[in-house]
Amino acid sequence: MTDREKPIGVFDSGVGGLTVAREIMRNIPKERIVYFGDTARVPYGGKSKETILRYSRQIVRFLRSQEVKAIVIACNTASAFALEELSAENDIPVIGVVKSGAKVACATTKNNRVGVIGTRGTISSGLYTELIQEINPQIEVIGKACPLFCPLVEENWRNDDPITKEVTERYLGELREKDIDTLILGCTHYPLIRSIIGQVMGEQVTLVNPAYETACQLRALLQDLHLSNNQPLQKDEQPHRFYVSDAAESFSEFANSILPFEIRDAKKIPIEEY
Ligand code: DGL
Repeated sequence: MTDREKPIGVFDSGVGGLTVAREIMRNIPKERIVYFGDTARVPYGGKSKETILRYSRQIVRFLRSQEVKAIVIACNTASAFALEELSAENDIPVIGVVKSGAKVACATTKNNRVGVIGTRGTISSGLYTELIQEINPQIEVIGKACPLFCPLVEENWRNDDPITKEVTERYLGELREKDIDTLILGCTHYPLIRSIIGQVMGEQVTLVNPAYETACQLRALLQDLHLSNNQPLQKDEQPHRFYVSDAAESFSEFANSILPFEIRDAKKIPIEEY
């Protein structure tokens, strides 16, 4: 297998990163993916940097054993806490979702007022604010942690669900008062309730989905490094492989509800051994 034909490693704390994998499949359809969801240790959102870094290093070691040519940290919390270290420690490209989201938010805002929603870890890391203000120090960033969104999405209480709508009103009510014109969906799960978030925030607020932006950044990076796969995928090939640390069946069930094809099996692996 040439370097160009090798897969992309994508990881997340669980199912959420499938929203990023889905964007990669849509936007760079010739690329193969090895996905790892850390379903035994999810959620990452309330854990310390030290713990997230340890978990992320194990996952990267596992993905590298699968001969990936690049790694995408699909989880916002892990991107916020571990991207710098993982990029420095690896001789293949490692990208996260936070930078792409920050970049597009800067290009989108007209009134220099940007909101960010995410897990407690992502918001308290302050990384979105830091990256946005590195690009444009005039932009004011207002962060809000929304920890209940992830379980609601995983419960399948997505768009049109009255309870999710009420929780969204409660979390985002104060953001609505802050006159933001751009809102970053800074957590893997949030694009799956995008329409409720959009209804609550109103038409004047543009929603930024870092998952899509990351896929575009990855495509450009692979092109620059001459690592894009130019060969069409084989008709009978299953180009994507899925691994988890626990509960493979419920992972596959969720994956099948959001991916455009059926996952036959997700394999459980002993991630603590890596
Ligand atoms: N994947 C996480 C993120 O994007 C959300 C779920 C979790 O807390 O682990 O931050």
